[in-house]
Amino acid sequence: MNVVVTKSYDESCTYVADMICKLVNEKPNCKLGLATGGTPVPMYKKLIEANKAGKVSFKDVHTVNLDEYCGIPGTHDQSYRYFMNTNLFDHIDIDKANTFVANGMGDFEANAAELEAKVREGGVADLQLLGIGNNGHIAFNEAADVLHATAHTETLTESTINANARFFEKKEDVPTTAITMGMGDILAAKCVVLIATGAAKENAIRGLIMDDVITTHNPSSMLKMHENVYVVIDEELANLVGYKA
Ligand code: GLP
Repeated sequence: MNVVVTKSYDESCTYVADMICKLVNEKPNCKLGLATGGTPVPMYKKLIEANKAGKVSFKDVHTVNLDEYCGIPGTHDQSYRYFMNTNLFDHIDIDKANTFVANGMGDFEANAAELEAKVREGGVADLQLLGIGNNGHIAFNEAADVLHATAHTETLTESTINANARFFEKKEDVPTTAITMGMGDILAAKCVVLIATGAAKENAIRGLIMDDVITTHNPSSMLKMHENVYVVIDEELANLVGYKA
């Protein structure tokens, strides 16, 4: 595992944006696995700036997103489709037909099967971007006694609902289930890049980078089995978990 410690969260975002731009420039038709949550937003801004400055073009890039809430349509301002459009796709030269976010409405099982197929379509992701939940969840693979390999519907934990309530008017509005890539889908990517910042992520990141334990109670710990993982954190978080380069 490559642990990258930067001076600041902004520098972490620059690091990851540069990695993505380099990949896209080397392989213009690459496939990116993308993530939502607050953490990648400034990184997406940097991709938009790079695209507007003519430093990178996404016109042949394909993307697949990790997950989507069940029960809200893509037009809902808290859906992950809406998030991706407004935080990235609407502002870059990507062909939206080449972007996939699971459908959160209708037949959830069929939608999960569609996501599973998209993960493999045309080959696996060249790079999978990840954030991390306070309890170590990645995508919406929640900390539990068992994890799932393939795309499925997941019941969200109280911890995740509480953490994500900040984006909704009230906690009761947060969907309680979501469609998510499974652990095998994430681990199938050629390269996995996880970005984290903030004290709330301390325990999850400690379990990811400070020991050799793999546990379903910190789903991110399964990344230890992947050959090509980058965990990008700032000095402040590295100090909190006691990581020394
Ligand atoms: C959600 C998403 C995850 C994300 C997590 C953390 O639960 N499904 O993909 O990593 O939130 O989000 P944030 O970056 O806002 O802390």
